[in-house]
Amino acid sequence: LDGPEVSLFCVVDGETVVPLLPAQDFKRVGDNDSGPNTGGMGAYTPLPWLPAQVLTQIVDEIVKPVAAEMVSRGSAFSGLLYAGLAITSAGPSVVEFNCRFGDPETQAVLSLLESPLGQLLNAAATGTLASFEELRWRDGAAVTVVVAAENYPGRPRVGDVITGSEADGVLYAGTARREDGAVVSTGGRVLSVVGTGADLDGARTAAYTALKSIKLPGSHFRTDIGLAAAEGRISL
Ligand code: GLY
Repeated sequence: LDGPEVSLFCVVDGETVVPLLPAQDFKRVGDNDSGPNTGGMGAYTPLPWLPAQVLTQIVDEIVKPVAAEMVSRGSAFSGLLYAGLAITSAGPSVVEFNCRFGDPETQAVLSLLESPLGQLLNAAATGTLASFEELRWRDGAAVTVVVAAENYPGRPRVGDVITGSEADGVLYAGTARREDGAVVSTGGRVLSVVGTGADLDGARTAAYTALKSIKLPGSHFRTDIGLAAAEGRISL
């Protein structure tokens, strides 16, 4: 499929579909989408290059019909429906659906959500999503950058002490706390750093500035998360 990818998370309760902000994930390990595929090396939201009518089209022509079809088959869905899409020259096409939040897009998306997430999920779980308030979002943009262990996405080096990570915006993933209190790496995608700002430039600056103080031997991260969008280089 040609065209940029979009991750759209929707809270679903039967035929009611509430989309969260669209995000974009970076699957390749290296800058400029080089190297092997990963679970995701970073993400940003919102997508300045995605027209509002395309987002509406995705919800109305893809997600809502899927939700309605599940109802009509007697297996109504309640939860988080994640549509992975490519915005092709012929319009949005589905790459995959997941029944879960996506990582690392979620870190960026939820950092801008002002409405109470617990109440939103509770509404879906109790069949009251249709009457939930319109979602409130912080202005601006968010960028997540994943710090990965040496050799990831191959067999990662683990057991190294991480320093400088106890800061705002740092979310742990492949980590554990040792008995002596040190935080050590235990997996490939070790942690992510979320930066927010008035725009993508500001969010990138916040994330990459916070990253400078985090030390993990052998680790690596992409330096271009959200860069093409910030520079206006993504078009449909
Ligand atoms: N970001 C990709 C995934 O969660 O599957």
